[in-house]
Amino acid sequence: MSGTMLEGRVALITGGGGEIGGSTAKRFASEGAKIVVADIRKDAADAVAADIVAKGGEALSLEADSSKLDQARAIVDATLQRFGKLTTYVNTPSTVTPYSLIENLSFELWNEALAVNLSGAFLMCQYAIPEIRKAGGGTIIMITSQLGQIGVPLRATYSTTKAALMQLTKCLAVDHAIDNIRVNSISPGSIDTRRTLRRYGTREVANKARGPFHLLGRTGRADEIAAGALFLASEESSFMTGADLLLDGGYLAFKGLQRPEGPSGTT
Ligand SMILES: NC(=O)c1ccc[n+]([C@@H]2O[C@H](COP(=O)([O-])OP(=O)(O)OC[C@H]3O[C@@H](n4cnc5c(N)ncnc54)[C@H](O)[C@@H]3O)[C@@H](O)[C@H]2O)c1
Repeated sequence: MSGTMLEGRVALITGGGGEIGGSTAKRFASEGAKIVVADIRKDAADAVAADIVAKGGEALSLEADSSKLDQARAIVDATLQRFGKLTTYVNTPSTVTPYSLIENLSFELWNEALAVNLSGAFLMCQYAIPEIRKAGGGTIIMITSQLGQIGVPLRATYSTTKAALMQLTKCLAVDHAIDNIRVNSISPGSIDTRRTLRRYGTREVANKARGPFHLLGRTGRADEIAAGALFLASEESSFMTGADLLLDGGYLAFKGLQRPEGPSGTT
């Protein structure tokens, strides 16, 4: 442990075995939070939890699908059973939908994206919010995307679910300010994670292709998103709720200045 910004907090991170989720879990643990890492990939969740424990922190690893009602409830139950309370929830799961016109995209993939990217957040909040309220308040963070704020070629599914997640963030902030629960989102730009491998093959190729879309001339790192999540989870952001933290390397500011040949190429 290196700091105390989240001392006394219990943070649950769905998709915590992923790169942004895992980096966030580790950063929160380094600031004193007890961590629950939930992911459909058991090995990935276990690895993040093991890393936290090896560094002297406390972590519980769960294999679970946050888009399934019974499993979402089980994630929150297991958190309470292990740590006695819940103060902080971070939602990160999303599917990787192929780049496509919607006429060529199956209804099944559309529904899968809605289930994982949006309904999972709904379900988790449904079970998490009463517990955060009982704990005297806390914070919820939704990982959305800068692509939820603009029209994106061939990315209607992803972009629409991320926009909806941003709207859910605002509505939950409105409903639960009275409970001392702050709800905010983060919109990352292109981040160097394994999500890009399916499209680009290697991270090097992905970063070369996607870097120039950002004003800073490079893709971001998972730890740069984790730093934003730490800000939102801590008292450093005590006057912030219902807002989006744009961590996109200047992607949206820059976008209007060029006319790319093809799709924007981010996940
Ligand atoms: N990487 C980027 O460029 C980028 C850019 C903008 C936004 N984002 C968003 O950040 C979030 C994290 O992305 P990442 O790059 O770390 O990807 P990642 O694939 O490393 O992490 C996502 C994690 O979610 C898990 N997951 C998927 N479905 C799940 C479910 N139903 N229940 C529980 N866990 C589930 C996956 O197993 C994975 O470990 C995503 O929401 C993504 O849309 C990423």
